[in-house]
Amino acid sequence: MKTIIEPFKIKSVEPIKFTTVAEREEILRQGGYNIFMVPAEDVVIDLLTDSGTSAMSADQWAGIMRGDESYAGARSFYRFQDKVRELTGLKHIIPVHQGRAAERILFAIAGGPGKVVPNNAHFDTTRANIEFSGAQAVDLPTAVGVDPDAMDDFKGNINIPALREFIEKTGAENIPLCMITITNNSGGGQPVSMQNIREAKEVCKEHGIPLFFDACRFAENAYFIKLREPGYADRSVKSIVREMFSHVDGATMSAKKDAIVNIGGFIAINDDELALKARNMLIITEGFPTYGGLAGRDLEAIAIGLEEVLDEHYLQYRIRSTAYLGEKIVAAGVPILQPPGGHAIYINAKKFVPHVPPERFPGQSVTVELYRHGGIRGCEIGSVMFGRRDKEGKFIPAAMELVRLAIPRRVYTQSHIDYVVEAIIEVYRNRDKLPGYRIIEEPPLLRHFTAKFEPIV
Ligand code: F0G
Repeated sequence: MKTIIEPFKIKSVEPIKFTTVAEREEILRQGGYNIFMVPAEDVVIDLLTDSGTSAMSADQWAGIMRGDESYAGARSFYRFQDKVRELTGLKHIIPVHQGRAAERILFAIAGGPGKVVPNNAHFDTTRANIEFSGAQAVDLPTAVGVDPDAMDDFKGNINIPALREFIEKTGAENIPLCMITITNNSGGGQPVSMQNIREAKEVCKEHGIPLFFDACRFAENAYFIKLREPGYADRSVKSIVREMFSHVDGATMSAKKDAIVNIGGFIAINDDELALKARNMLIITEGFPTYGGLAGRDLEAIAIGLEEVLDEHYLQYRIRSTAYLGEKIVAAGVPILQPPGGHAIYINAKKFVPHVPPERFPGQSVTVELYRHGGIRGCEIGSVMFGRRDKEGKFIPAAMELVRLAIPRRVYTQSHIDYVVEAIIEVYRNRDKLPGYRIIEEPPLLRHFTAKFEPIV
């Protein structure tokens, strides 16, 4: 049988509230045409993020009840620690409440003025935490990685020749660590190959620079290696994960993605001195080292989720259902960042609404219309998020104008996705009529969350 089915049955359901186009037009008006201002209840299908939006399993919910809430040395901590160690082989496992807390601690101790941190592509919170420490964050993607139309198996790879050159130019003493984000979220949810990880490690090792993963979507990355990289087809995903982590000296992780939980994260490090400093920071802001800002029950759910995410029926369904959405809309001519990523499809808004120039926010235009027309919430990743003005007030657009449709884990069924496909195709057929937007109010930082817009008609 060819059909890939959801590898789970549904035991508990949440109703979806249906709204009309007229109601959604009013909601948009009231929220200043900013999708972050829309109450979640008024969203039909919510593809804003795959982070913290997963459905936990019956086993995880049972784990929630079993969670040990002791302040120090809780049983749930040891269970969590054992699971993370089993998968990563890393020595010190430090729980935190989410990915950016791991980043803040890591860069508070490893960052600072004069330091530079390379990555295939930094996620925005990683970049913000590096820059907040006074250090500089540098992206080193490959040429195919930044071409939205290029078809390639591992568009998430870090650019090895560029990394070499970067280290020689910057000086190894100024590079506290090198990161690789798996999968590469800012670059379209694209995977990184084992060969690339191995080569990055060799380059870092030559210069005595530790290599770290931003490991949010490590299982999806490992499954892509199994599907696409020669020599891995017959390997278990768990053994691929272990091999991936065998090349790194540490990792930060947001458990809100591939640990299939609603909150949590960790730092994993081999270096004793760095771990000691991290735990000292942790105590000040997150909590005692055996709970780190989480409840015991959260640690229990993470330990279970980290095992469930490696189930190959789950991963097959996960990667296939994202590709399914991509393939269906591509067949109708909708331009997307190719090939489909692991956790999301990224619509190429520059091509979707070519009549809307970057300073009128094409991604915003498509995002608003998807909500207005179908109640679907995506996320603009373009000039609203990354565009800026130089000192003379000249508009500098983002490199790409994208709308990310991120798929929560185990939440929506194929008919939900079919509805999304239909809505996108209808919006695409009507694309000539979509307006551009202007910002009428914006905060000084991270404006995409709270800015207010107005359509230009
Ligand atoms: N690194 C990557 C690659 C991420 O995608 C995220 C979060 C983080 C770090 C930070 O983790 O949210 O737990 O603090 N990404 C979410 C997203 C928000 O929608 O892509 P966090």
